[in-house]
Formats: sequence, C-alpha cells, structure tokens
Amino acid sequence: MRSHGDPRRADSRHPATEAPVTIDLNHPTDTTMSAAGARTATLDEAAVERIRGDFPILSRTVNGHPLVYLDSGATSQKPRSVIDVERAYYEFSNAAVHRGAHTLAGEATELFENARATVARFVGAADDEIVWTSNATEGVNLVAYGMSNASLGRGGKAAERFRLGPGDEIVVTELEHHANLVPWQELALRTGATLRHIALDDAGRIRLDHAAEVIGERTRVVAFAHVSNVLGAVNPVAELVALAHGVGALVLLDACQSAPHLPVDLRALDVDFAVFSGHKMLAPTGVGVLYGRSELLNALPPFLTGGSMITTVGLTESEFLPAPMRFEAGTQRVSQAIALAAAVDYLEAVGLDRIAGWEAELGRRLHDGLAAIPGVRVLGPSPAEAERVGLASFVVAGIHAHDVGQFLDDRGIAVRVGHHCAQPVHRRFGVTATTRASAYLYNTVAEVDAAVEAVADARVFFGEA
Ligand SMILES: Cc1ncc(COP(=O)(O)O)c(C=O)c1O
Repeated sequence: MRSHGDPRRADSRHPATEAPVTIDLNHPTDTTMSAAGARTATLDEAAVERIRGDFPILSRTVNGHPLVYLDSGATSQKPRSVIDVERAYYEFSNAAVHRGAHTLAGEATELFENARATVARFVGAADDEIVWTSNATEGVNLVAYGMSNASLGRGGKAAERFRLGPGDEIVVTELEHHANLVPWQELALRTGATLRHIALDDAGRIRLDHAAEVIGERTRVVAFAHVSNVLGAVNPVAELVALAHGVGALVLLDACQSAPHLPVDLRALDVDFAVFSGHKMLAPTGVGVLYGRSELLNALPPFLTGGSMITTVGLTESEFLPAPMRFEAGTQRVSQAIALAAAVDYLEAVGLDRIAGWEAELGRRLHDGLAAIPGVRVLGPSPAEAERVGLASFVVAGIHAHDVGQFLDDRGIAVRVGHHCAQPVHRRFGVTATTRASAYLYNTVAEVDAAVEAVADARVFFGEA
C-alpha cells in the first residue's frame, strides 16, 4: 500500500495520509499493447468484484434493482479510500495552504503539494507543470483567457507566441465537447482570429487528410480530444501533434475521457497543454488539472488574478509568481486535490494498463451487442476500425433517447441521454440526441449484457420490435 502523502514526514497517526487502498491485485507491469495494437493486460471478474467492494454506492438498489452504473463518462463513482481521505482532511488537517505560519497550515500545504506531485507523476509531468483548476472546462478557459490577455499586450515579449489577431487561426475538430469548443469560439470573437474545424469521416474518425489541409501557416492553436465522449474512439494524437508542431502551432489535448481510462504520458504525447477532470477518475467534483509545458506556463499571462498568485502588489501594479501558482488565485480546493491524489493511488494500484484492457473488452461487448439489435445504430467507428474505450452512444429507431434512458432506469441501469455537451458531432451524424452507456473499472460483463438486453426489450415495449 502506498499513501498519497509522505508518511515519513507526516504524523504517522494522521488519517489523511493513511487512507487505505484496499485492493491488492498484484498486477503485472507487462506490456500494454501487443504487436497488433490490442491491449494485452486486463482485469478479470474476480478482480472486478473486489474492486466493486471498494465502492459503497455500488451496493445500493435503484427502483428495486441493483444499481448498474453505466454513466462514468459523465462522472465516476468514488472508492472508500478517496471518500475517507477527503473526510480525514477535514477532521485532522484542515488549514489554509501556502499562508499560515502554524503547524497545521504546514501539514496541509505538504499534503496539497504532495498531491500535485502524485498527479504530475501520473501523467508524466513535472510538479510545476500541474495547475489545479475546478475542472477541465476551467482549464481550457484558463488557456484561452491567458491568450486573450496576451493578445491585449499582457505578458511582454515572452507572451508573444500567445498573441492572436485577425488572420490567425484556431483549429478544433468536429467531435469536441463544448468545453473544448465554446472557449475557442469566444477567444476568436475577442481577438478577431478565425476558428476552423477538422472534419470527421462517416465512421466518426478524424480525417487526417482534412487536418493536413486545415492546419497551415496561419494556425496558432490546435485543440482536440484524446477520446471523444460521444464516439468513444481514441484519436490520432501523434499525427495531429506532428501537423500542429510542423507549423509552430500549440497543441491543447482534452484528456477528460482518456486520463481516467488509459495510461497517458503527456510528455511522450508531446502536447503543449492538456486538461482533465478529477470527478471522472474516482475523485470528488471541484478539482481538475491543467498541464502545461513549464516554459509555456511561465510565459502565459494569468487568467484569474488576486491573492496567492503574486509576489509584490502595489496600488497600481502587481508582479506574479511563477507557474503553477500564478494560475491559482484565491483559496484553493485543497481537500479535493488531496482526494484526487488518493484516486490516482487507487487507479495505479489496479493498473491503468489493466483498466484499459478491461474497458476495451467491455466496450467491444457493448458496441457489438448494441449494434446487433435491429434498429439500433451505434455512433463512432467500430472496434475493428479504431481503438475504442468502454463507452457507446446509440440511437434506437423510433424511440427517443430520453425514453430509452427512462426504460433502463426503471431497471436500475443508469445511462446518459441527450447531446452530452457535444451538439456539433450529433449534428454531423444527423441526430439531436443519443443514449450513452459508459463503463469503468468497476463494471462487469453481466452489467453490460443487462444494458444490451434492456435496450432490446425497450424496442418491444415501445412497439418497435
Ligand atoms: C471530452 C470531454 N471534455 C471536457 C469535458 C468537461 O469536463 P468538466 O465538465 O468536468 O469540466 C467532458 C465532460 O463530460 C468531456 O467528456
């Protein structure tokens, strides 16, 4: 067992540093991908049963049925170790970080900064490359507003590469979550830059031929999702990064649907910025992460300003701290950050390679089971066409997504319905709403089968079979 704090330096009776990770799955550190590209490490039903025992909510019933939680793409459930760490922080360690001269403040600061180090290591970054945000949405806005401020002349010469104006282009893809689209629309409106998008093919893959046309001399930023929250496919990061860097553009990766589910090394992916949310990876709401290459973060003008992000403040002007603190204005989300580190400990104890392998199996079963039902159309490339995670968005001919969701809920099966904050990709495929089932490490094959069976039964119930 490893704790997210530093047990050598913190009080050994200190519960906030001693929240147990109860699983001991003895996972191998073997290779994650076979030569053919398929994931080789995975979990088995016995391991998943043990994992389920760590998640109190999974033992409840809903509408008279055991809960089948297939909405982790929206937000994940939390293991006891994460819940305990957050509670223990408030019971034993709560204090304002980075400020107080007293022991408690020192301990809280140490826990907070240890949490940053844990998350940094998790994604292959240095500690000062990790900025705490409220969520991924705030991370994208932080970069976009930082660029806006640079465009107004803030940040001096160092910020030149962030300055946008008429003639400059920002590039996104057609599959983005609104969190990685609307902030860029707003940045374009504020600066006079043009927002362009890379199209998808009919299977839902990013068209690299189109990317090569769209990304050019004028491109300053390319922002895209690692994994689509609607289509479920892993996007070609290396190819898009090569195109963007080939013209000197910055890359922002939306890792919301990848960091919780796959091994992600941001340095190896060579992106400039990345964002993800704690609540989708076993941690509480209220904490997210912005990763930025150190030299970029130190050159980007801040977004939010105020206390805790300054060195000296005069009545008319102020100087800012280096990254990451120059982006962490005001009182921070301390308990959530510490709990996010506990979530990372949990994920690492299971093994991201094995989680990815298990979700690939569940995802394939979900996709193929749904696609085999007459009248059901699953969006996105098939598992044969692209690597997919464990989520599938689908439409059932003749039945509105909300009715499908309600029918499943009556059986205790929680899925998401609607446009999942991604209207353009729904429009691309000629639908306004889909039903989305999304699995995580705690889901079983039986649960996936129950969801597929319920969709088939919904067709009978609504007279579409
Ligand atoms: C791909 C993707 N990007 C961004 C977000 C936004 O995350 P948050 O609402 O936590 O900021 C989500 C959440 O659903 C997502 O799935």
